[in-house]
Amino acid sequence: MNPFERLDLPVVESDLARLEGLLAESVIFGDDYLDQVTTHLIYAGGKRLRPLLAVASATGGARAASSNDLLGGVALELMHLASLYHDDVMDEAEVRRNVDSVNARYGNLIAIVAGDYLMARSAAIAADLGTDVAGLLARTLAWLTRGQVSEVRTSFSVERTEKDYYEAIEGKTASLMSSSCRVGAMTAHLDADQTEALAEFGRCFGMIYQLRDDILDLTATNNQLGKPAGQDLAEGVYNLPTLFALRDARVGDELRSVLGAALDDEARERARKLVVATDGIGETMLAAKSFMAQAHESLAVVPHAPLRAGFGSLIESLLEDLPAY
Ligand code: IPE
Ligand code: IPE
Ligand code: MG
Ligand code: MG
Repeated sequence: MNPFERLDLPVVESDLARLEGLLAESVIFGDDYLDQVTTHLIYAGGKRLRPLLAVASATGGARAASSNDLLGGVALELMHLASLYHDDVMDEAEVRRNVDSVNARYGNLIAIVAGDYLMARSAAIAADLGTDVAGLLARTLAWLTRGQVSEVRTSFSVERTEKDYYEAIEGKTASLMSSSCRVGAMTAHLDADQTEALAEFGRCFGMIYQLRDDILDLTATNNQLGKPAGQDLAEGVYNLPTLFALRDARVGDELRSVLGAALDDEARERARKLVVATDGIGETMLAAKSFMAQAHESLAVVPHAPLRAGFGSLIESLLEDLPAY
C-alpha cells in the first residue's frame, strides 16, 4: 500500500517530506540514551498515515501546509508512536516497523516510560496549537486507552461480543484517525460541517483499517506480516472473523475447545485454519464495506473535489489487496 499514490495530491506528499524533520526534531531532548530510544521507531519508518490524514484534511492538497498544519500532524504521529511503544509491551511484540520493537531492544520498563515521554511531547505541541487541539488530543488518548483496556479485559474470552470488538477498535484505532482529520480541519479553520464530515471519514477509515489488519493477521503469510500469522489468536485477541467463526455451526465447538488459553504454534495454526474455513472473513469484509459506504457518504460533504477523490481512492485501497475468501 502506497498511500501517496492513491491520494494523488503531490503537495501533500511534499508537506509530509517537510514534516519528517519536524518529527525527529520534536523528540530530541539532549540526553543521548533517551534520544536514541525515542527516535528508534521514527527512523525505522512507518506510513505516517495520521499526519497524512491531518495535512490532507487541512489543505486538500490545494496549498502548502502551514506550520500549524504540520505541527498538528507531528502531535498525532507522536501520540500514535507512544501508543505503539505501549502496545508492543502489552502484546509482547518483538518486531515493529521491520526492526526490533522498543521493548525487545531496550526492555519493557524503558519502553513504557519512553512511550510516556512521547505522549508528553505530543501534548506540549498540541498545547502550542491551542486549548481546543490540546483538549481533543487528551480526550482521544482517553478513548484509545479505553479501547486497549477493553481488548485486554476480553482477552481469551470466547464470550467476547461483536459490541466488545467494535468498541475496542473504535477506541484503539479509529479515534486517533478521526482526530487526525479533525485536527487538520481545526488548524485550517474549516467550517463545522466540513470538520464533522472529515472526522467521520477518519473514523470510518480507522474502523476499516483495523478490520483489514485483523483479517490480515489470519490470512497473510508470515513473511508479509513479519510475525507468525494468527498471532492475535495465540495472544487471546479474538477479532471479528474469530467471533463469527465461534458461532459457526460446523466448527464453532471445535474452535471453542482450542481457544481460551495461550496457544503453541501447532494449536495456533489449527485455530487459524478453523477460522478461515468459515465465512468469518467474508462477513468481516461485509462489515468493512458497510463502513466504506459510510465513509463515502461523509466525503460527499467535502467540497474540494481532488480531496474527495484522493480520500475516496485511499480508503478503497484498504480492501483491495486482501486475499479473496
Ligand atoms: C499500526 O498502525 C497500528 C494499527 C492501527 C493497526 P499503522 O499501520 O499506521 O503503523 P505505522 O505507523 O505505519 O507503523
Ligand atoms: C493497534 O493495536 C492499535 C494501537 C497500537 C493502539 P494492535 O495490537 O491491533 O496493532 P498491531 O497489529 O500491533 O500493529
Ligand atoms: Mg499490537
Ligand atoms: Mg494490541
